[in-house]
Amino acid sequence: MEKLFPTLFDLIMQPIEKLKFHTIRRNLLSQTKGRVLEIGSGTGANFPYYQAGVTVDAIEPNAFMIKKSEEKKRAALVPITTHEADAESLPFEDNTFESVIATLVFCTIQHPLRALSEIKRVAKPGAPILFFEHVRMENPLFGLIQDILTPAWKKVADGCHLNRDTQHLIKQSGFHMCPAETFFKGLFLVIKCHNPF
Ligand SMILES: C[S@@+](CC[C@H](N)C(=O)[O-])C[C@H]1O[C@@H](n2cnc3c(N)ncnc32)[C@H](O)[C@@H]1O
Repeated sequence: MEKLFPTLFDLIMQPIEKLKFHTIRRNLLSQTKGRVLEIGSGTGANFPYYQAGVTVDAIEPNAFMIKKSEEKKRAALVPITTHEADAESLPFEDNTFESVIATLVFCTIQHPLRALSEIKRVAKPGAPILFFEHVRMENPLFGLIQDILTPAWKKVADGCHLNRDTQHLIKQSGFHMCPAETFFKGLFLVIKCHNPF
Protein backbone atom coordinates (compact mmCIF):
# COMPACT_ATOMS: atom_id res chain seq x y z
CA MET A 1 0.00 0.00 0.00
CA GLU A 2 2.88 2.34 0.89
CA LYS A 3 4.10 1.98 -2.72
CA LEU A 4 0.67 1.90 -4.43
CA PHE A 5 -0.84 4.85 -2.57
CA PRO A 6 1.26 7.60 -4.25
CA THR A 7 0.02 6.51 -7.72
CA LEU A 8 -3.60 6.05 -6.61
CA PHE A 9 -3.49 9.38 -4.79
CA ASP A 10 -2.48 11.29 -7.94
CA LEU A 11 -5.10 9.48 -10.07
CA ILE A 12 -7.96 10.19 -7.66
CA MET A 13 -6.91 13.74 -6.86
CA GLN A 14 -6.31 15.11 -10.37
CA PRO A 15 -10.00 15.85 -11.24
CA ILE A 16 -10.70 17.23 -7.72
CA GLU A 17 -7.62 19.44 -7.93
CA LYS A 18 -8.82 20.95 -11.20
CA LEU A 19 -12.32 21.63 -9.82
CA LYS A 20 -11.61 23.46 -6.59
CA PHE A 21 -8.36 22.68 -4.81
CA HIS A 22 -6.36 24.60 -7.42
CA THR A 23 -7.77 27.95 -6.21
CA ILE A 24 -7.48 27.05 -2.53
CA ARG A 25 -3.85 25.96 -2.90
CA ARG A 26 -2.94 29.03 -5.00
CA ASN A 27 -4.41 31.43 -2.41
CA LEU A 28 -2.91 29.68 0.57
CA LEU A 29 0.55 29.14 -0.89
CA SER A 30 0.74 32.80 -1.92
CA GLN A 31 0.74 33.63 1.80
CA THR A 32 3.93 31.75 2.57
CA LYS A 33 7.09 33.80 3.02
CA GLY A 34 10.80 33.43 3.70
CA ARG A 35 12.01 29.96 4.62
CA VAL A 36 8.94 27.69 4.44
CA LEU A 37 8.38 24.30 6.06
CA GLU A 38 5.92 22.05 4.23
CA ILE A 39 4.53 19.14 6.26
CA GLY A 40 3.78 15.87 4.42
CA SER A 41 4.46 17.10 0.89
CA GLY A 42 3.30 13.80 -0.71
CA THR A 43 3.53 13.82 -4.50
CA GLY A 44 4.34 17.55 -4.54
CA ALA A 45 0.84 18.92 -5.23
CA ASN A 46 1.80 22.26 -3.66
CA PHE A 47 5.15 22.65 -5.40
CA PRO A 48 3.84 24.47 -8.52
CA TYR A 49 2.18 27.14 -6.35
CA TYR A 50 5.19 28.53 -4.45
CA GLN A 51 6.03 32.03 -5.59
CA ALA A 52 9.47 33.53 -6.14
CA GLY A 53 11.18 34.72 -2.96
CA VAL A 54 10.61 31.69 -0.75
CA THR A 55 12.78 28.64 -0.10
CA VAL A 56 11.09 25.42 0.93
CA ASP A 57 12.01 22.49 3.16
CA ALA A 58 9.40 19.78 2.53
CA ILE A 59 9.22 16.81 4.90
CA GLU A 60 7.56 13.55 3.90
CA PRO A 61 7.95 10.09 5.54
CA ASN A 62 7.07 7.98 2.47
CA ALA A 63 10.08 7.58 0.14
CA PHE A 64 7.80 6.60 -2.77
CA MET A 65 5.87 9.87 -2.38
CA ILE A 66 9.16 11.79 -2.38
CA LYS A 67 10.23 10.03 -5.58
CA LYS A 68 6.91 10.89 -7.24
CA SER A 69 7.35 14.55 -6.26
CA GLU A 70 10.76 14.88 -7.98
CA GLU A 71 9.41 16.14 -11.30
CA LYS A 72 7.30 18.86 -9.67
CA LYS A 73 10.27 19.79 -7.48
CA ARG A 74 12.47 20.29 -10.57
CA ALA A 75 9.75 22.34 -12.32
CA ALA A 76 9.09 24.60 -9.30
CA LEU A 77 9.90 28.32 -9.43
CA VAL A 78 11.64 28.15 -6.06
CA PRO A 79 14.33 26.01 -4.40
CA ILE A 80 12.73 23.01 -2.67
CA THR A 81 14.59 20.48 -0.51
CA THR A 82 12.76 17.28 0.40
CA HIS A 83 13.56 15.44 3.64
CA GLU A 84 12.43 11.94 4.55
CA ALA A 85 11.03 12.65 8.03
CA ASP A 86 7.94 12.52 10.26
CA ALA A 87 6.13 15.63 11.44
CA GLU A 88 6.34 14.28 14.99
CA SER A 89 10.13 14.57 14.97
CA LEU A 90 11.26 17.44 12.76
CA PRO A 91 14.97 17.47 11.85
CA PHE A 92 15.36 21.25 12.31
CA GLU A 93 16.60 23.68 14.96
CA ASP A 94 14.19 25.76 17.06
CA ASN A 95 12.97 29.06 15.47
CA THR A 96 14.00 28.15 11.91
CA PHE A 97 10.99 28.88 9.67
CA GLU A 98 9.18 32.08 8.64
CA SER A 99 6.07 30.08 7.62
CA VAL A 100 4.65 26.57 7.74
CA ILE A 101 2.13 24.93 5.42
CA ALA A 102 0.23 21.65 5.81
CA THR A 103 -2.36 20.51 3.26
CA LEU A 104 -4.52 17.37 3.55
CA VAL A 105 -2.03 15.85 5.95
CA PHE A 106 -3.22 16.18 9.56
CA CYS A 107 -5.84 13.49 8.85
CA THR A 108 -3.00 11.00 8.43
CA ILE A 109 -0.38 12.00 11.00
CA GLN A 110 -0.39 9.38 13.73
CA HIS A 111 0.33 11.76 16.63
CA PRO A 112 -1.08 15.13 15.54
CA LEU A 113 -0.54 16.92 18.86
CA ARG A 114 3.12 15.93 18.85
CA ALA A 115 3.42 17.23 15.26
CA LEU A 116 1.78 20.54 16.21
CA SER A 117 4.16 20.92 19.13
CA GLU A 118 7.10 20.31 16.76
CA ILE A 119 5.76 22.95 14.34
CA LYS A 120 5.54 25.42 17.22
CA ARG A 121 9.16 24.67 18.12
CA VAL A 122 10.68 25.08 14.63
CA ALA A 123 8.58 28.08 13.52
CA LYS A 124 9.68 31.59 14.42
CA PRO A 125 7.49 33.62 16.80
CA GLY A 126 4.58 35.15 14.84
CA ALA A 127 5.17 32.94 11.77
CA PRO A 128 2.02 32.17 9.74
CA ILE A 129 0.99 28.50 10.08
CA LEU A 130 -1.38 27.59 7.24
CA PHE A 131 -3.60 24.52 7.00
CA PHE A 132 -5.95 23.11 4.37
CA GLU A 133 -7.52 19.99 5.85
CA HIS A 134 -10.56 17.77 5.70
CA VAL A 135 -12.20 17.38 9.09
CA ARG A 136 -15.13 15.81 10.93
CA MET A 137 -18.23 17.70 9.76
CA GLU A 138 -20.42 19.61 12.24
CA ASN A 139 -23.61 18.21 10.69
CA PRO A 140 -24.43 15.33 13.12
CA LEU A 141 -25.51 12.90 10.37
CA PHE A 142 -22.48 13.54 8.14
CA GLY A 143 -20.19 13.40 11.20
CA LEU A 144 -21.66 10.03 12.18
CA ILE A 145 -21.18 8.70 8.64
CA GLN A 146 -17.53 9.80 8.83
CA ASP A 147 -17.16 8.00 12.19
CA ILE A 148 -18.60 4.80 10.71
CA LEU A 149 -16.45 4.92 7.56
CA THR A 150 -13.17 5.81 9.28
CA PRO A 151 -11.96 2.32 10.37
CA ALA A 152 -12.27 0.90 6.80
CA TRP A 153 -11.09 4.15 5.17
CA LYS A 154 -7.91 4.16 7.27
CA LYS A 155 -7.00 0.77 5.83
CA VAL A 156 -7.36 1.79 2.17
CA ALA A 157 -6.21 5.41 2.45
CA ASP A 158 -2.82 5.18 4.14
CA GLY A 159 -4.09 5.73 7.72
CA CYS A 160 -6.30 8.75 6.90
CA HIS A 161 -8.89 9.58 9.63
CA LEU A 162 -12.00 10.91 7.90
CA ASN A 163 -13.37 12.15 11.21
CA ARG A 164 -10.45 13.99 12.78
CA ASP A 165 -11.24 17.33 14.47
CA THR A 166 -8.03 19.03 13.37
CA GLN A 167 -9.34 22.53 14.13
CA HIS A 168 -9.83 21.57 17.78
CA LEU A 169 -6.34 20.05 17.96
CA ILE A 170 -4.82 23.25 16.54
CA LYS A 171 -6.75 25.37 19.09
CA GLN A 172 -5.63 23.06 21.87
CA SER A 173 -2.01 23.54 20.80
CA GLY A 174 -2.13 27.26 21.55
CA PHE A 175 -1.70 28.82 18.10
CA HIS A 176 -3.23 32.26 17.51
CA MET A 177 -6.11 31.45 15.15
CA CYS A 178 -8.17 33.38 12.60
CA PRO A 179 -11.72 32.19 11.84
CA ALA A 180 -11.60 29.13 9.54
CA GLU A 181 -12.94 29.25 5.97
CA THR A 182 -15.18 26.30 5.15
CA PHE A 183 -15.57 24.46 1.83
CA PHE A 184 -17.90 21.64 0.70
CA LYS A 185 -20.33 22.16 3.63
CA GLY A 186 -17.58 22.08 6.23
CA LEU A 187 -15.81 18.95 5.01
CA PHE A 188 -12.72 21.02 4.19
CA LEU A 189 -11.31 23.93 6.19
CA VAL A 190 -8.65 26.52 5.52
CA ILE A 191 -7.20 27.47 8.89
CA LYS A 192 -4.75 30.35 9.17
CA CYS A 193 -2.96 30.91 12.44
CA HIS A 194 0.27 32.32 13.84
CA ASN A 195 2.92 30.88 16.07
CA PRO A 196 2.66 32.58 19.47
CA PHE A 197 5.19 35.35 20.26
C1 LIG B 1 -3.23 12.79 1.56
S1 LIG B 1 -1.52 13.00 1.39
C2 LIG B 1 -1.39 14.76 1.10
C3 LIG B 1 -0.15 15.17 0.40
C4 LIG B 1 -0.01 16.66 0.09
N1 LIG B 1 0.22 17.42 1.29
C5 LIG B 1 -1.17 17.22 -0.68
O1 LIG B 1 -1.70 18.27 -0.31
O2 LIG B 1 -1.55 16.64 -1.70
C6 LIG B 1 -0.97 12.84 3.08
C7 LIG B 1 0.54 12.81 3.21
O3 LIG B 1 0.90 12.84 4.60
C8 LIG B 1 2.03 12.03 4.74
N2 LIG B 1 2.20 11.66 6.17
C9 LIG B 1 1.70 10.59 6.81
N3 LIG B 1 2.12 10.56 8.07
C10 LIG B 1 2.92 11.64 8.25
C11 LIG B 1 3.69 12.14 9.33
N4 LIG B 1 3.70 11.53 10.50
N5 LIG B 1 4.41 13.25 9.13
C12 LIG B 1 4.40 13.89 7.93
N6 LIG B 1 3.70 13.46 6.87
C13 LIG B 1 2.97 12.35 7.02
C14 LIG B 1 1.73 10.85 3.84
O4 LIG B 1 2.88 10.08 3.54
C15 LIG B 1 1.15 11.55 2.62
O5 LIG B 1 2.14 11.92 1.70
